[in-house]
Amino acid sequence: MCGIVGYVGSKQAVDVVVDGLRRLEYRGYDSAGVAIVADGALAVRKKAGKLANLRDVLDHDPTPASGTGIGHTRWATHGGPTDANAHPHVSEDGKVAIIHNGIIENFAELRAELLAAGVHLTSETDTEVVAHLLAAALPAADGDLAEAMRRVCRRLAGAFTLVAAHADMPGVVVGARRNSPLVVGRGDGENFLASDVAAFIAHTRHAIELGQDQVVELRPDRITVTDFHGAPAQVHEYEVTWDAAAAEKGGYDTFMLKEIHEQPKAVADTLLGRIKHGRLTLDELQFSEEELRSVDKIIITACGTAFHAGLVAKYAIEHWTRVPCEVELASEFRYRDPILDRHTLVIAISQSGETMDTLMALRYAKEQGSRVLAICNTQGSTIPRESDAVLYTHAGPEVAVASTKAFLTQIVAVYVFALYFGQVRGNMYDEEIQHLIAQVADMPQKVDLVLDTVEPIRALARTYADAHSVLFIGRHVGYPVALEGALKLKEIAYMHAEGFAAGELKHGPIALLEEGLPVFVVVPPPAGRSVLHEKMVSNIQEVRARGAHTIVLAEEDDDSVLDYADHIIRIPACSTLLQPLVATVPLQVFACEMATLRGFDVDQPRNLAKSVTVE
Ligand code: G6P
Repeated sequence: MCGIVGYVGSKQAVDVVVDGLRRLEYRGYDSAGVAIVADGALAVRKKAGKLANLRDVLDHDPTPASGTGIGHTRWATHGGPTDANAHPHVSEDGKVAIIHNGIIENFAELRAELLAAGVHLTSETDTEVVAHLLAAALPAADGDLAEAMRRVCRRLAGAFTLVAAHADMPGVVVGARRNSPLVVGRGDGENFLASDVAAFIAHTRHAIELGQDQVVELRPDRITVTDFHGAPAQVHEYEVTWDAAAAEKGGYDTFMLKEIHEQPKAVADTLLGRIKHGRLTLDELQFSEEELRSVDKIIITACGTAFHAGLVAKYAIEHWTRVPCEVELASEFRYRDPILDRHTLVIAISQSGETMDTLMALRYAKEQGSRVLAICNTQGSTIPRESDAVLYTHAGPEVAVASTKAFLTQIVAVYVFALYFGQVRGNMYDEEIQHLIAQVADMPQKVDLVLDTVEPIRALARTYADAHSVLFIGRHVGYPVALEGALKLKEIAYMHAEGFAAGELKHGPIALLEEGLPVFVVVPPPAGRSVLHEKMVSNIQEVRARGAHTIVLAEEDDDSVLDYADHIIRIPACSTLLQPLVATVPLQVFACEMATLRGFDVDQPRNLAKSVTVE
């Protein structure tokens, strides 16, 4: 949700900043803009639409040479996606440029104050007020931009990352953060600021996390961090473990396709180092065994795809550990007065670690005395930092807005946790755990097998490219898989799609069935002809009987479904609980192919952002 880059050094700032924006465009693409400090003036270029539009502007109207600059890609909140509302915003005297991610909640009051003082505002954004406030605060701050920023931040309410530059201050960029992400990149004679390390990973892997309510002043040879009152702040410095190549497409047409194909490795990496001699060791989990033994309820909270991973997790956690587990959308969680206490473990699942709904849910849980475990893919992000413990998924950077490899690794991470939890609590036999771990360890290979056989799914997308709706049904863990399959299609192919629990079909959704409507059916493993499997076979027949087309995902040797399948997609045999890891992949490929066929931007779907840092 809005990407921010700042640079001070000896390179051409505009090149560094625009390349950084390219890597952050997944955060928003309603407009893009830069401000470059050169010759006592600000060169501001900005344009509505994707970064390509800004590049066109820069081609026709280049900025002067300079080593100081800031840049922004926008996901619109206040004010439509127009040129005027694009960031950076500039003070009336043309000296201060500001970019912003988040929402300034008291902006109406600040705007009224500025209007009363005769300031002329040129945009509808909440951001612009900060440019004028900063300019006004500078004299009292003795011309110190960082001090002016601290003074202004103390007046702001809401969530914000702000980055400012001043026409008369080459070699200085100032940033501030509250709730929204901002990371410093420490270079050699140059320094960087960005919403995500991806923006500067081509230049440095040394990163510094900024804490809540901190202001940073960046100069080529110095990084100074304080709190909003000017007191020096403690910061955490770390090395980014992946390199620039991981954030490139690597020969694939889209990031999404690349990330789908990275899933076997991502799953293997998430397991790496966590299994020793058939037992689980989670060194980075900062809960004592005693603390884990005192847990009597688990609540998983997350949004979007991560929520679907949470739904899958519930089945495993309750089955393996017999501890009650609820799953709740983070945006609903804290507003319904949930029952929480110190024996409740809240698990917050988030790829980005910055989703505001999830962050607010975890803060609420902590206020109620519960302990919070983050399952997160982004090192140093806010959600793990504010949690009591963290289990990182090691999926590597996920750039496509529609989440794929993060989903699979989130499931693996929660399963690893559930087995560890069972191990610590002693309600699972060691042999049972070893057996399950061995099955999980086999999954990268099985996901690979699915990827080797996806061609028929592409053909299916061609068959149904003009369908007006697609339905997905599943039972047990196949139900969240159905939800995820439908979400992918909505997100990137803009098709109406719905996922249902197959047993619910007859209670309403069956009325939607009509001649030729494609319905994906996730069939559970037949293992001993389980009740689940038999019921699912009946559901396929119900769908078929109403003229809809059944696209059946079933295990490689499961021939019991052949008579009822218009199309069959084979998936490798595995236990029911692990099936989402193989059953989701064809659905991801289907959505990706469908979006491509329909001519849409697979990686940057309309209206969406990868990291949603507003509630
Ligand atoms: C956004 C993205 C989704 C993602 C959700 C949760 O809505 O578009 O793809 O699943 O946020 O994101 P998180 O980073 O918390 O997993």
